[in-house]
Amino acid sequence: ESGKNNLPKVVLTTPNSLCEVYLHGAHITSFKTNNKKVEHLFVSEKSIFQDLKAIRGGIPLIWPQFGPGSIQTHGFARNIDWEISRVFVNDKSQSVEIEFTLHSSEYSQKIWGVTNEFKTTYTVTLHADHLDLGFDVRNVGQIPIEFQLAFHTYYSISDIENVHVLGLKNRDYIDKLDNMKIVKEQRRELTVRSEVDSVYLNVVPEQNYQPLQLVDLGRKQTVTLTYDYQNIPDVVVWNPWIEKSKKMDDFQDDEYKQMICIEVGVINKPIKLTTNQLFQTKHSIIPSPMPAKEPS
Ligand code: BG6
Repeated sequence: ESGKNNLPKVVLTTPNSLCEVYLHGAHITSFKTNNKKVEHLFVSEKSIFQDLKAIRGGIPLIWPQFGPGSIQTHGFARNIDWEISRVFVNDKSQSVEIEFTLHSSEYSQKIWGVTNEFKTTYTVTLHADHLDLGFDVRNVGQIPIEFQLAFHTYYSISDIENVHVLGLKNRDYIDKLDNMKIVKEQRRELTVRSEVDSVYLNVVPEQNYQPLQLVDLGRKQTVTLTYDYQNIPDVVVWNPWIEKSKKMDDFQDDEYKQMICIEVGVINKPIKLTTNQLFQTKHSIIPSPMPAKEPS
């Protein structure tokens, strides 16, 4: 199918759900459940759908660098076209799966150097009520490679004033807005009332832990984020708020009210792969109606 600006996209559906992915960046731009009526992802009205530019919203795949670092911020995987390598429809479990592949190329070599050779696969599995993402990297070159990774998800919300994030209490985070200071999170319910750009470190569950969740009181909905804690333990919370929104030319001034980014990935300690070594990881996005309040 052809999407915005004629960029090719794929639409996966089950009777209850839908997921739209652009080959450009293997970028997911829509994920709907509840009879395809509830959209979970935010995409800016001003997003530019263009070669070598990332789509503003949805799930940009950040690889091989989160940044800041030696190559362009957030890497190049989100800026170029991926190939579809496999499609699988599972009638029984009513899920549909698509696999995208990206190999080292002239473009990657120009940005990341000729010696970094890789094969990455990205698997998107749409179920009736949730989305599973799998990301693998194999070092197919002669020297070790090193990378960061993030699923840079923009969640669509009723209003920023109605949401909070659970599961980050007592975690250390790097405050990117305050000289990379490391701070311990005190809040059980993280609310956003000003610009936020925080990298929570090593969010590995302990016993009886509170899972990472986005709670939207307006929509009466919770989105639970599960991820491979061994591999991708870091969590970024980002909202540009008023001033930063005005400075972004592919984002409307007041759109910060309709989105929050909660990004799981590996940021603090990059992954190193020796020749032929394989890295594999998984992340799931699981929306559900908010449980009724327990009587007190
Ligand atoms: C977040 C970063 O992940 O993404 C922010 O922590 C950054 O610092 C934001 O501003 C958006 O980045 P970009 O490259 O998509 O404009």
